[in-house]
Amino acid sequence: MTTKSLFAALTRVGAGFGVAALALVWALAAAPAQAQENIPLDRAPDNGENLASLQHGAQLFVNYCLNCHSANLMRYSRLQDIGIPQKQIEDNLLFTTDKVGNTMSIAMRPDDAKAWFGVAPPDLSVEARARGRDWLYTYLRSFYRDDTRPTGWNNLVYPNVGMPHVLWQLQGIRTAKFEDTTDAETGEKVHSFTGFQQVTPGTLSPVDYDSAVADLVAYLGWMSEPEQKTRKQLGVWVLLFLGVLSFFAWRLNAAYWKDIK
Ligand code: HEC
Repeated sequence: MTTKSLFAALTRVGAGFGVAALALVWALAAAPAQAQENIPLDRAPDNGENLASLQHGAQLFVNYCLNCHSANLMRYSRLQDIGIPQKQIEDNLLFTTDKVGNTMSIAMRPDDAKAWFGVAPPDLSVEARARGRDWLYTYLRSFYRDDTRPTGWNNLVYPNVGMPHVLWQLQGIRTAKFEDTTDAETGEKVHSFTGFQQVTPGTLSPVDYDSAVADLVAYLGWMSEPEQKTRKQLGVWVLLFLGVLSFFAWRLNAAYWKDIK
C-alpha cells in the first residue's frame, strides 16, 4: 500500500467516524421506541418542560405510588432541579425516609410485596423509558372495575394487572363495556372493547383527571432521565463542533494533497 492510498483510506475512515458520530447523536436525541399494544395508545401531552406540571407530578408520585413502588435511582434532593425548595421537600414529601439526600426507597420488603400482590411492584426509576410515556398515560387512565379480579380492578392496556386502581378516588369508578362478535370471514369470536361507563364520579372531572395523569407521567419521564435537558443542549454543541471539525478536516485534506498530483 502506498503512502497515498493509505492516506486516502485514513481520510475515508475518518469521514466514516464523523458520519457514525452524527448518526449516534441523532439517535440519542430521538424519542425511545414505543411498545406495541392492541389497544391504541393515547398521546401523552408533553409537559416535560413545565415546572408546575413536574412539581404536581412529583407530589402525586410521592403520595400515590411510593407506598408500593420505589424509585431507587432518584434522590429527594434532586427535586430541587424541578424547582421544589429543600424546605418544602422536607416538610411535604419525605414520608418513607427522613433525609433529603436519600433515594426514593420504600419500607415494604419485596417478599411481602410479592405475597400481597402476587407480583412485586417494580421500581419506577426508569419506567418511562421502559414502557414509553404514551403507554403510561393510557395505562393510568384505563383502569376499570372488575369483580372477578382479586384487587377488584382490571386494566385495558395491562389485562389482569396485579396493581389496584390507586387513583380511583380522583377518577371515580368506571366499568368497561365489551362486545362479543363473530368475524364474518373467519368465523372467529372477537371480544372487543367498546367504551367505559362512569359509575360514580371522582373528585376530579374527567378533564382534570387526564391533566393530573399527564403531570404524573411528565414527572415519571423526567425522573427516568433527569439529564435529558442538559443532554439535548449538549447535543447542539456536539453537532456544531463536528461541523467545524469536518470543515477543517476537509481544508486540511485539500492542503495535504495540493502538491501531490
Ligand atoms: C398498592 C400498591 C401499588 C401502588 C400504590 C401503586 N402500584 Fe403500580 N404496581 C403495583 C403492582 C403489584 C404492580 C405489578 C403488576 C403486575 O405486574 O401485574 C404494579 C405495576 C405498575 C406498572 C407496570 C410496570 C410494568 O412495566 O410492568 C406501572 C407503570 C405502575 N405500577 C405505576 C404506578 C404508579 C404511577 C403509581 C402511582 C399513581 C402506582 N403504580 C401505585 C402496585 C402498586
